[in-house]
Amino acid sequence: MELFQPVLAKLNFEDGTIDNCEPIIIRHLGDLQGYFQDEAAFQAMLIENPVLYRVYPMKASGEEAGLLVGTSVIEPGIVGKEYFMTKGHFHLLEKAPEVYFTLSGEGMILIETANGNAVAQKMKKGTIHYIPGKWAHRTINTGAVPLIFFAVWPANAGHNYGAIKDKGFATLVVKGKDGPELIKNPSYH
Ligand SMILES: [Fe+2]
Repeated sequence: MELFQPVLAKLNFEDGTIDNCEPIIIRHLGDLQGYFQDEAAFQAMLIENPVLYRVYPMKASGEEAGLLVGTSVIEPGIVGKEYFMTKGHFHLLEKAPEVYFTLSGEGMILIETANGNAVAQKMKKGTIHYIPGKWAHRTINTGAVPLIFFAVWPANAGHNYGAIKDKGFATLVVKGKDGPELIKNPSYH
């Protein structure tokens, strides 16, 4: 068995970058066509097509049964009543879990089963979220500054975006009078 070497990296708490690396994923608003309820608000904002989130990788060791490590930075913003959010996904390897650790900002993580059972947890500096296998996960920036979190997941987990793109999450996080509110997704099927 190949012997991999230990890896050291440095996280920048200010902007979420690791070793000043470039993002491995940059999602603009236009990449989330069909994900927000308010199509008119979506189209109006599409003229500027802002960046919604970026993912920065730690250069991992490359072990086949190893771990992937990275940070995500979700910008603050709102489309209609919905906050900027990630697409959300299941893992292709369904049993693969994941851990998120919030570094800064405020948000919510929606963790949901394939039949729509949802758990919403508040994210703020220091919160740790264990996402079991078979649960989809999406993060939402409900604050006024970037939401930055650190994630660790099995290298062979993969991403299944299709199920969420097709049917959405059963629960939405929307801006209410006194802050974020959870509502049922009227488009969920
Ligand atoms: Fe994941």
